[in-house]
Amino acid sequence: MKILSVVGARPNFMKIAPLVHAINRYNEGRERGPGLIDHMLVHTGQHYDERMSAAFFDGLDIPRPDVDLGVGSGTHAQQVGQTMMALEPVFREARPDWVVVVGDVNATCAAAITAKKEHLKLAHIEAGLRSFDLEMPEEINRMVTDRLADLLLTPDALAGANLLREGAREETVRFVGNIMIDTLEMHRARAGQLKVGAILARNARMDGTTASRVATAGQLKRDPTLDDGFAVVTLHRPSNVDEPPVLRALTRFLVDEVASELPVIWPIHPRTLKKLDEMDLLGEVLGAPDVYLLDPVGYLEMLRLTLDARIMLTDSGGLQEECCVLGTPCLTLRFNTERPITLEENGGTCVLVGNDVGRIRAAFKRKLRDPRRPFRPLLWDGRTAERVVECLR
Ligand code: UD1
Repeated sequence: MKILSVVGARPNFMKIAPLVHAINRYNEGRERGPGLIDHMLVHTGQHYDERMSAAFFDGLDIPRPDVDLGVGSGTHAQQVGQTMMALEPVFREARPDWVVVVGDVNATCAAAITAKKEHLKLAHIEAGLRSFDLEMPEEINRMVTDRLADLLLTPDALAGANLLREGAREETVRFVGNIMIDTLEMHRARAGQLKVGAILARNARMDGTTASRVATAGQLKRDPTLDDGFAVVTLHRPSNVDEPPVLRALTRFLVDEVASELPVIWPIHPRTLKKLDEMDLLGEVLGAPDVYLLDPVGYLEMLRLTLDARIMLTDSGGLQEECCVLGTPCLTLRFNTERPITLEENGGTCVLVGNDVGRIRAAFKRKLRDPRRPFRPLLWDGRTAERVVECLR
C-alpha cells in the first residue's frame, strides 16, 4: 500500500511525526512486498524558515521530505493555487492509494482539492473541528477538506457530531483521538529535562538590552523564572496582529500588566515580529523588563515552557490542546474556538477571552490563581497514529 502525506506549515509537523513513526513500526519485521506500507512525504513549503520548518523535522525525528515544493508565502489564493499546481504532477506520478492531510492550513486544503481532482482517496487527520467562523481561513480549509475526504479521522466526539450534522456518511467517520498528543507523550519526559534559562539564552532576540538582561539576570545558571513561575505568550492570528489598535492594546497589556505580575516569555511568530516592527512597538517589547522576546522555539522547548507555565496566553489551536492535557491554565485570545473540548465548561483548562483587554484582564486575574488541572479527553492517549494506520489499511 502506498500512502502519500502532505505537510506545509509548522502545526502540521507535530501531527505527521507520529504517523511516520507508526508506519515505520508497522513495517518493522515484515517481509518486503505488497504487505509493506510505502510512505512518501511531501512538504509544500508554506513555512520555510529554519525555525518554522527544518527545526521541527530534526526535533521530531521526521525524515527529510521526499519532495519539497518550496511554495513559500503569499496571499491565500497564491498559496493555495501554487500548491495545487505544484502538487498535481507529484500526485500524477506517485498515484498513491491514500493521500493523507492533517490539520487546517492552506497546504491541507490545496492538497485535498488536488487529490480528489486526481481521483485519489483522501484521508483527513483532525477532521470535524469547527469554529463556525468563516472569517478564519482555517475554517474554510477545514470545511472544504472534510467535504472531500473519504476518511474522516476525528480527534473527539464533538468533531464527529459536527460531521454527521453536515451530512457526512457515518461509515467515513472514525474516532481515532488526537494525534498531537502522541507527539506530546513521546517527548514530555525529554522536554522536562530542559532548563528554562537555557531556552531563554538560546532563543532570546538579542538587542543590547535583552542580551545583557538575559546574561546578568543569571538566567543561564539557574532558573529564576521557575521560582515564582512565568507566563507564556504566543500570537499570530491576523485578527490579533494585523490591526494596529488591537496589537497595540494587547502588547501594552502584556508589557505593563502581565509582566508586572510574573516574567513573560514570548516566542514570536515571524508575522507578529514584522507587525510589531511596522507599528513601532518592537522597541517597547524589547526594552520591557521581565519580557523575554524569543525567536520561534522548537517543539521540545515549547513543550518545556508549557509544562511549567503558570499561565498561557495564546491564539494557537494546538497549544490549547497541549495546555488542556498538561493542566496549564490557558487564556485563549480568540472569540471562538474549533476546539471546544479544551474549554473549562467541557472539563479543560482554556477560557475564551477574545482580544478585548478588559475581558482578558479579568480572566487573567482569575486564572492566575488556578491550580494545574490536567484533563485528558477520550482517546488522547498517545496511540492515535496506530489507529490511523489501522483505518488506512
Ligand atoms: C499558518 C496557518 C495557521 C497556523 C500557523 C502556524 C493558514 C491559513 N494558516 O499561518 O493556521 O496556525 O501557520 O504558524 O494556513 N513567514 C515567515 N517564515 C515562514 C513562514 C511564514 O517569515 O517560514 C511569515 C511571512 O511573512 C508570511 C507570514 O509569516 O507571509 C504568514 O505565513 P502564512 O503561512 O501565510 O500563515 P501563518 O500566519 O504562519
